[in-house]
Amino acid sequence: MSGPLIVGIGGTPRAGSATERALILALRQAEAGGARTRLFSGEFLERLPHFNPGPAGPSAEQAELAQAVRDADGIILATPGYHGSLSGVVKNALDTLELTSRDERPYFHGLPVGVIVTAAGPQAGGATLMAVRGIIHAMRGWPTPYGAALSAANLFDASGECLETRDAGQIATVADQVMEFAQMRRAQLQGADR
Ligand SMILES: Cc1cc2nc3c(=O)[nH]c(=O)nc-3n(C[C@H](O)[C@H](O)[C@H](O)COP(=O)(O)O)c2cc1C
Repeated sequence: MSGPLIVGIGGTPRAGSATERALILALRQAEAGGARTRLFSGEFLERLPHFNPGPAGPSAEQAELAQAVRDADGIILATPGYHGSLSGVVKNALDTLELTSRDERPYFHGLPVGVIVTAAGPQAGGATLMAVRGIIHAMRGWPTPYGAALSAANLFDASGECLETRDAGQIATVADQVMEFAQMRRAQLQGADR
């Protein structure tokens, strides 16, 4: 049987985004645990139109994001702290998931959702983490117990690896907890099918 699908959503459209790099490392950690992964980076998220709840159908990108979340066994969100909260680009991606609102499993229902925040300072890191967790609750997801709040400056070396082992550990712990829940949930659903 194939591994759980972990969908990463986040980063900034900025070339060299530290948030995106942290998300890629988290997805790589999930892959090491047997996951299949899919990344929706800042460059993709920037192409999403502002979500309009009117009757017009979704754009190709909006539909692609919604379908990936439908298929997912776990989610990892990564956002910069912008003015004390998540970025507009990431919030718009989350609003876009309103497209799943009438599904049998809407939004993040039944899914573990890990959160990674990068910010210049610790105040925005903590506040943004709490804001994103509030959104996950609103979207019926299960925020992982551990969330990573990273200082954006001097996070990575030239090869894109974490300079500090504690930062690498934060990113890995988020990925590991998403995987742990996703595998428990899969086992539970398979047991219910027997
Ligand atoms: C519009 C904007 C608002 C920001 N607001 C804050 C803030 O309130 N607190 C903070 O610590 N850092 C703030 N920052 C710094 C960002 O959090 C930091 O640049 C970001 O984590 C870098 O992400 P990236 O490398 O993925 O682009 C802000 C940056 C921008 C561009």
